[in-house]
Amino acid sequence: MKILLVDGTIIGTKTGVILEQVKDYIEKLNMNYTLEIVSLANYEHQFVDGRPFENYNDDMKLLVSKFEQADGYIIATPIFQGSIPGVLKNTFDFLPPKTMRYKPVSIVANGGTYQHHLVIENQLKPILDYFRCLVTPNYVYTHSSHFDENNVIVEEDVHERLRELARVFVQYVEMSKTLCKEPIDTH
Ligand SMILES: Cc1cc2nc3c(=O)[nH]c(=O)nc-3n(C[C@H](O)[C@H](O)[C@H](O)COP(=O)(O)O)c2cc1C
Repeated sequence: MKILLVDGTIIGTKTGVILEQVKDYIEKLNMNYTLEIVSLANYEHQFVDGRPFENYNDDMKLLVSKFEQADGYIIATPIFQGSIPGVLKNTFDFLPPKTMRYKPVSIVANGGTYQHHLVIENQLKPILDYFRCLVTPNYVYTHSSHFDENNVIVEEDVHERLRELARVFVQYVEMSKTLCKEPIDTH
């Protein structure tokens, strides 16, 4: 199974740190998945403005194909202005609606205020629900205080929650193997 771990920002460091940690915990579960981190910072983005698909640059096309080929996703995002980064929303806007359909997704996020975990509930989850993703019930929201000055996660509770997230995500990936992604003709 191919798992795409998406670092949904082009600035900052902590989102990528959490993502690396989740990758490590999934790998420790020894499921023989192919794990790939896609950092949006490494792509040249173009606004999704309704132009024909072939007129977008190679990076935008590559992003879509990586999403399409994946069997499951970890979406990592910082909180910007009480929301997700525009670049992550722009990436979602570019995906054909069926791209992530019935595929498992777990969310990790980080912010500078404790209350903004609600951005996950009120903004990110509705987008993933629109895509009909299998969003795991647990997500992990970290606060800047959970990191030391070198952006190492020092809060043991965060590690425990990330391990639990990895465990549940893997269960969802396994369950999704038997889930038919297309309607079955019963006529
Ligand atoms: C433009 C901008 C807007 C931000 N808005 C919020 C916000 O509304 N709520 C919040 O909790 N943190 C906010 N933050 C803090 C980021 O979430 C925080 O910098 C990031 O999660 C920590 O990662 P970093 O240290 O790698 O940048 C904002 C940061 C930036 C740069």
